[in-house]
Amino acid sequence: MLTPLNLQRTPRHVAIIMDGNGRWARARWLPRAAGHRAGVQVLTPLLETAGELGVETLTLYAFSTENWTRPETEVSTLMSLFLETARGKVPDLNERGARLRFVGRRENLPESVRAAIREAEMLTAANDKLDVYIALNYGGRSEIVDAARRMISAGLDPEDVNEETFARYLYAPEAPEVDLVIRTSGELRVSNFLLWQIAYAEFYVTDTLWPDFSAQEFRRAIESFSARSRRRGGV
Ligand code: IPE
Ligand code: IPE
Ligand code: MG
Repeated sequence: MLTPLNLQRTPRHVAIIMDGNGRWARARWLPRAAGHRAGVQVLTPLLETAGELGVETLTLYAFSTENWTRPETEVSTLMSLFLETARGKVPDLNERGARLRFVGRRENLPESVRAAIREAEMLTAANDKLDVYIALNYGGRSEIVDAARRMISAGLDPEDVNEETFARYLYAPEAPEVDLVIRTSGELRVSNFLLWQIAYAEFYVTDTLWPDFSAQEFRRAIESFSARSRRRGGV
């Protein structure tokens, strides 16, 4: 049974490093693909709970710029799974009022995946219940480099470059600052995720492997956030 939470503060923007699919599969003598597949099943209860708790924005790390170094077969399995997930889940997300956006370098993704991204973004563009960003072929450093490039192409005067103008050139300038980063499977690292946006984010790391991450644990993470004092350099 889910207990009602007494939240003093709900994070507006939660970003999640969904890690541990491979280890989940290995523990069951299953191929890694089975872990990725099981990981997809977590999404629906997660999004439901985010809506219930009043989280406005979720960013989910699905594929990093470094994940191309995995064996070809795993990369293509992941790409097929993205397509399958888009087909299977986007209509439902749309009905729930979620607006889907993708962040990352799209140009290197297969055309079929790019088409699915465009379709999902168009279909859900007018929704306003929950903003969901999927980080696909995403790297925090690439994002910063891409922002710098676009600022230079736009002919910005160096005098006008400050934190505020810089942030306008990021992939999702409209998203609020990240309040909480959740990482599953116990790794204490950032793995090139949202480097700019997490400057003052709180962290919640759990040993739970991503396919086992439950709505209940998501609530615990939010509760933990709610009880913290974010000093932001002050006293
Ligand atoms: C996260 O699970 C999913 C992606 C990175 C695409 P992993 O595949 O990294 O799982 P582990 O870390 O090997 O257990
Ligand atoms: C981070 O997980 C990327 C995603 C969850 C998509 P990784 O498994 O790729 O990160 P490392 O290898 O542990 O740093
Ligand atoms: Mg991993």
